[in-house]
Amino acid sequence: ALSFVHRYEPAREAGVAPLLLLHGTGGDENDLVSLGGMIAPGAALLSPRGKVLEGGMPRFFRRLREGVFDEDDVRARAAELAGFIAEARAAYGLAAPVAVGFSNGANIAAALLLTQPDVLAGAVLMRAMVPLAVPPPADLAGRRVLLLSGAMDPIVPEENAARLAGQLRTAGAALDHRTLPAGHGLSQADLTLARDFLRAPA
Ligand code: MLT
Repeated sequence: ALSFVHRYEPAREAGVAPLLLLHGTGGDENDLVSLGGMIAPGAALLSPRGKVLEGGMPRFFRRLREGVFDEDDVRARAAELAGFIAEARAAYGLAAPVAVGFSNGANIAAALLLTQPDVLAGAVLMRAMVPLAVPPPADLAGRRVLLLSGAMDPIVPEENAARLAGQLRTAGAALDHRTLPAGHGLSQADLTLARDFLRAPA
């Protein structure tokens, strides 16, 4: 068995990058599967369940409180998730995936980009914030990343999302940062922008 509880949906179309779906706090491997099918029809979908439990709610890394992260755990969990991605690629015969993460899932995807820069082909980060105050130098040259923030997000201040955008640009990512008239929850605009981004050639 692979090292994370997960769902896997095989591709129904050739040449579409697989998606790595990463749920938010309290979600599980089922949460984003239908969203994945909407934004990337025909793509293989790989959807792990976060291993950290907070009051019974699955997450991808520990936090001390909302918005304050255990950065050692962020690094260790990003490495652990990178191991799972390698296992799943071998088991299912997959190309490098594009991560699609929401909230805590977007934060671990950002941590993966910054600490394991060879693992993801790109990423859609929905309501992400800075996972590591001082990330290691990473080479993300040309890697396409879409960061979708909410102008009224009570969890992610605008300044924090801007700081994450700066970290990704400094590492060389081809970043598109959009701030939507939304809160922490997803809106229709998120789905449309994600779908258009995933349709564009890499
Ligand atoms: C986190 O803990 O990753 C962020 O606070 C987002 C959340 O999961 O609520």
